[in-house]
Amino acid sequence: EEVEWNAEETGKGKYDHYMLKEINEQADSLSNTLGGRITDDGDVDLEEFPRGTFDDVDHVEFIACGTSYHAALYGAQQLQRTGIRATATIASEYDTATVTEDTLTIAVTQSGETADTISALRAAQDAGAETVAVTNVVGSSAAREADHALYIRAGPEIGVAATKTFSSQVATLTLLAHRLSQDLEQGTAREDNEEFFAELQNLPEYIDEVLETSTAEAVGEKYLDKNSYFFIGRDNEYPVALEGALKFKEITYEHAEGFASGELKHGPLALVTPKSVVFSMFTGENGEKTRKNAEEAHTRGADIVAVTDDADSVHEFADTVLHIPETHPDIAGLLANVQLQLVSYYTADLLDREIDKPRNLAKSVTVE
Ligand code: G6P
Repeated sequence: EEVEWNAEETGKGKYDHYMLKEINEQADSLSNTLGGRITDDGDVDLEEFPRGTFDDVDHVEFIACGTSYHAALYGAQQLQRTGIRATATIASEYDTATVTEDTLTIAVTQSGETADTISALRAAQDAGAETVAVTNVVGSSAAREADHALYIRAGPEIGVAATKTFSSQVATLTLLAHRLSQDLEQGTAREDNEEFFAELQNLPEYIDEVLETSTAEAVGEKYLDKNSYFFIGRDNEYPVALEGALKFKEITYEHAEGFASGELKHGPLALVTPKSVVFSMFTGENGEKTRKNAEEAHTRGADIVAVTDDADSVHEFADTVLHIPETHPDIAGLLANVQLQLVSYYTADLLDREIDKPRNLAKSVTVE
């Protein structure tokens, strides 16, 4: 369980930046996250949480900041699909008003040291919640202070912009969601359990396929003269849209925003001009709706980049396609995210930004 991090492992190796190295490590880090945690017959085996650990829990709340908040949102959606009441709240906005002794509060924090998250975790504990820290750092403050710790096992992440830890957080949360669906009274198992877990285990292979075939560098170059970069998606593509935009603004310093696809017409469409690019995700079951939203932006002159496993279905309005392998819709968002990470990276590189240490930002923010 303990992860040894040594200097050799933390070198940049053949890569120009830690961020690119860490993006490329994601097949390995994900294998490590999942390793030994899924049984042959498609059940979750978390040694930290044997079945029944959460029998008394009645609802779940996630607290987190930044990229970890996007992973938390993804996790909350996974839980809601199994019938469990779950929310994700930005840690600095956290309020304990609805906490009872049957609340399970899950703090998601890569470093385990983010002040806003630790402060919310303490408040939850004081209000009587049971707490879990989902973190990458063994012995971190969050791991020590929460009732339980669940490690994402992603290995050291040096780049300020989180990449591989997001993928490992989401994968870990899908496992935890499965355990909770078994333990909580309201929880119902997924109908397509076997297929889902088989695909989850195939994810490292799919990520390698994306890394080997991605055209993200050309996409970055093509849209370098734009002045606004929007990211839209629905369902689990929504947290990925938020994450895509966060990554983009963090390292390129260009204006980027992530929206729920359906919200585009409720305001943000006013921002769309021919100087905009809209990265639109088509990885789930509601592609037809997102298609209409993307078409509206296209009509207003924006270039559309479609992230999809089915290029034929988007050719009428998409100017560019970023291809992902076909997989289960609940995890396809992770593949889309890898493409978006690469677009941000190459755009920032072309703009000559300080990718591993963006201006004004810190890897771990220990003040509230
Ligand atoms: C900082 C980092 C972000 C990170 C956030 C939360 O703002 O720059 O990349 O997502 O903190 O960090 P945590 O360690 O709690 O996941």
